[in-house]
Amino acid sequence: MDKIEITGGDSLNGKIKISGSKNSALPILAAALLTEEKISVSNVPNLSDIFSMLELLRSLNVKIIKKKNNIDLISSTPKSLLAHYNLVRKMRASFLILGPLLARYGNAKVSLPGGCAIGNRPVNLHLDGLEKMGVAFKVEEGYITGTVNGRLKGAKINLNKISVGATENLIMAATLAEGTTIINNAAKEPEISDLSKLLIKMGARIKGFGTKKIIINGVRKLNRCSYKIMPDRIESGTFALCVFGCGGKVKLENVNNEICNHLIKVFKQLKSLELKKTDNGTSLLIQKNKNEEISLSVKTREYPGFPTDLQAQLTASLLKTKGRSEIVENIFENRFMHISELIRMGANLKQIGSKIIVKNCKKLKGAEVMATDLRASSCLVIAALMADGKTTINRVYHLDRGYENLEKKLKLCGAKIKRVQS
Ligand code: UD1
Repeated sequence: MDKIEITGGDSLNGKIKISGSKNSALPILAAALLTEEKISVSNVPNLSDIFSMLELLRSLNVKIIKKKNNIDLISSTPKSLLAHYNLVRKMRASFLILGPLLARYGNAKVSLPGGCAIGNRPVNLHLDGLEKMGVAFKVEEGYITGTVNGRLKGAKINLNKISVGATENLIMAATLAEGTTIINNAAKEPEISDLSKLLIKMGARIKGFGTKKIIINGVRKLNRCSYKIMPDRIESGTFALCVFGCGGKVKLENVNNEICNHLIKVFKQLKSLELKKTDNGTSLLIQKNKNEEISLSVKTREYPGFPTDLQAQLTASLLKTKGRSEIVENIFENRFMHISELIRMGANLKQIGSKIIVKNCKKLKGAEVMATDLRASSCLVIAALMADGKTTINRVYHLDRGYENLEKKLKLCGAKIKRVQS
């Protein structure tokens, strides 16, 4: 298993090209199941989560032609509509194939994704919404089988909790349903808008994406199209927090206006971090000015609030700041696996329920640590870059799920980071 070694203490200076969004790419690849025609997607990041989705799609008779960051997908009728446990267990987003399979073929058997390191992650909202559209479900031996009598029917669906994945599954299902579907209390994340824009290019009729009420008028058939995935806002935010933790000046390239505005807003409380849009909003200049005392109060929220996917990285970036900050995790119940690893490096952290209190640590020192989930891994990278001496991060396969060329990008900005194969 690969490890990453980092010798900390340097500031970061240079340019980083942001990759395509993982969380957009996953539903967009699943959407290829909605048509027999060719879907060409560009700016797809090379990540293990993407490879897991491609493996799953291949098992469902999707022909895939991949050249670097471009992927062509042609989805022919599969012999069996089964998504096997071995393929689904690797990644929860695999569940996003359920809506498209039911919409196109009227039945599907998909392994239930189960829990994961950041807590119990149910799929009730996906299933309740699909049931309203006419799907009958039964659960047997860890698999969920869905069957539709004829075509899916448009329905009024009120999500009783905001869910990115459920909103995506239901939009995809509704594109081929008979009549109109209204999703109330929908997630507003930019990745939902990215998926909707692809579906519209395929011929779907969708309005209201990016708001909490999405209206989809079903069509009989979707068609071929080409689509470029939006930049990754979580990768962008992670690098901004690297600069906040280590100091320096880094230009993030290949971003967009919406990502720039979002990060400027969510990092507003980090007074000494300057974020400036340049190149017509396609670049974001990040600069740490001085080390000033800071007392933050941050609560993770659905978009446009502070993203849960940046909570761990924010915690790490604050470890050496003077002051007392509070970070509350509102989205996932157990997203604190990184805390004990940070404490092993000397962090002054206290967890009270879903709240983390961060105080200045006298000394942050490199140590041997273990990555436990995707964002916890990038949090350890930030802490290691800030620490004195060498840190070895084990289980970096978590990092490879969501960050394309992380070591290369940081190295170009002066970080002492290397991958060790063992
Ligand atoms: C997506 C993102 C993930 C991010 C999360 C929240 C992808 C591939 N992943 O995950 O990186 O951290 O959004 O922004 O896009 N819930 C239910 N029932 C359901 C579904 C969800 O109770 O049927 C709960 C979850 O347990 C969680 C909350 O709703 O507490 C939000 O989860 P959701 O938005 O669905 O997350 P994902 O789509 O899995």
